[in-house]
Amino acid sequence: MPYRPPRVTVAGLLLAVATGVAGAQSGTAPADPGRGRGVVVGAGPGGQRQACLACHGLEGRGDPAAGFPRLDGQMATYLYKALADYASGVRPNEIMTPIAKALTEQQRRDVAVHYATQDPTGPGPTGAAARPAGGPEDYGLVQRGAVLSSIGAAEHGVQACQNCHGPDGAGLAPLVPALAGQHEGYLRGQLQAWKAGRRGGDPAGVMAGIARRMDDRDVSAAARYFASLPPAPRSVSGVAAITAVVPEAAGNRTAASGAPAGQRQGDRP
Ligand code: HEC
Ligand code: HEC
Repeated sequence: MPYRPPRVTVAGLLLAVATGVAGAQSGTAPADPGRGRGVVVGAGPGGQRQACLACHGLEGRGDPAAGFPRLDGQMATYLYKALADYASGVRPNEIMTPIAKALTEQQRRDVAVHYATQDPTGPGPTGAAARPAGGPEDYGLVQRGAVLSSIGAAEHGVQACQNCHGPDGAGLAPLVPALAGQHEGYLRGQLQAWKAGRRGGDPAGVMAGIARRMDDRDVSAAARYFASLPPAPRSVSGVAAITAVVPEAAGNRTAASGAPAGQRQGDRP
């Protein structure tokens, strides 16, 4: 597939480059690019004044080794909710909570739309590519993960992941995230966090209930399986949905598209 430069929202781009921004302090949006560069090179005072791209990358590919998740193409509504959950403390995380708290409402929307509109199917490290080539044990794990996804584990009362996350792990807008192509270590870590009671915010505790009924091998199997799937094209419906959840994001969506919905590659009905 030929490389296509990512389309970005202006505000979301500045945020990804420059977060922790002046606006978080002054209550005004968004940072100027000069300041952003300062933050990128680490000149900003305070641990939370870090650009998103320092860890997630400008295009949202994340870093499998460091445990920084991919955000590219993830539905904007879910990204927005994740930031709100970090900020409110229902999903406590020592890195993301102070970062999310430093964002204004508008900045959360802008940056969610920025990452949601990145194309996750382009070149770059993906969950699958980052994994060393597997032997028989790897194959067994992937197979087990496929069973969990499509059938679940009735013996443990675990329902099929695809009931909510979709058959190809593409997620279901507005709030069930895509798992396909996400970094394996991150997926495993999130399931373990739910098992250990360290992650909240899932509606009705649905993921906590599922993860607690998965043993360590099933956690590894699910993580490896979903990481091995090719990422789904970005969910433009998810970007549209954020405008319903948070209407002020509508302007950014227009800026992000560069073309009317329906003409962009990756649009899905
Ligand atoms: C210092 C590294 C670092 C920086 C800077 C950073 N992140 Fe993160 N981010 C992480 C880590 C680590 C996690 C996983 C935390 C966890 O286990 O919940 C994460 C998780 C997330 C998630 C949750 C993804 C999911 O699938 O649930 C979102 C959304 C996110 N970050 C957005 C941002 C945004 C937006 C910025 C900039 C404003 C940012 N991050 C800056 C390291 C970072
Ligand atoms: C009944 C619906 C439902 C089922 C079934 C389900 N999930 Fe989820 N899952 C969710 C929702 C909703 C979220 C988002 C939680 C939140 O908002 O924090 C989620 C989030 C996740 C995440 C976090 C992704 C991220 O980016 O941080 C992982 C990993 C995950 N699910 C794995 C699984 C696996 C593996 C299975 C099958 C064994 C499964 N889920 C079955 C609804 C479901």
